[in-house]
Amino acid sequence: MRLLTHLAAALALGGVFACAAGLPAVTARDAQVSGVSLHELRSGRDRYVAKCSGCHRLYSPAAYDDDVWRFQVDDMTAKAKLTDDDVATILTYLTTMNGNESREVASRSAD
Ligand code: HEC
Repeated sequence: MRLLTHLAAALALGGVFACAAGLPAVTARDAQVSGVSLHELRSGRDRYVAKCSGCHRLYSPAAYDDDVWRFQVDDMTAKAKLTDDDVATILTYLTTMNGNESREVASRSAD
């Protein structure tokens, strides 16, 4: 019985964090490949989760190319009450992680 209770609690917690967990984690390799610091990429991801998950699901960075992300974030700036610094940091995260992810997939399937 106790085991079941623990399992249920673990499942419930998993559900709460599922949205943010679905986002690609920032790795040292992402920073190395992009030339953007790990600190800045992580800060962008944190702000994206904090500012953009209130009203709808978090879209994967890979969902849009750089230009479309610039448009989308601009469109959401007032809704999400973003500062200029938020916009810059969130866009750095989104436009870096979209590129890395698609390049990764492309180079793997070419093998
Ligand atoms: C106050 C609520 C709210 C917040 C906070 C918010 N959004 Fe939105 N978002 C909406 C609504 C409502 C729509 C649909 C209507 C529209 O496009 O204005 C939307 C639409 C979108 C779309 C378009 C989806 C499509 O199908 O074209 C994207 C992408 C998006 N939001 C990203 C973001 C990002 C990135 C942030 C954080 C910077 C954010 N949202 C924060 C309410 C919000």
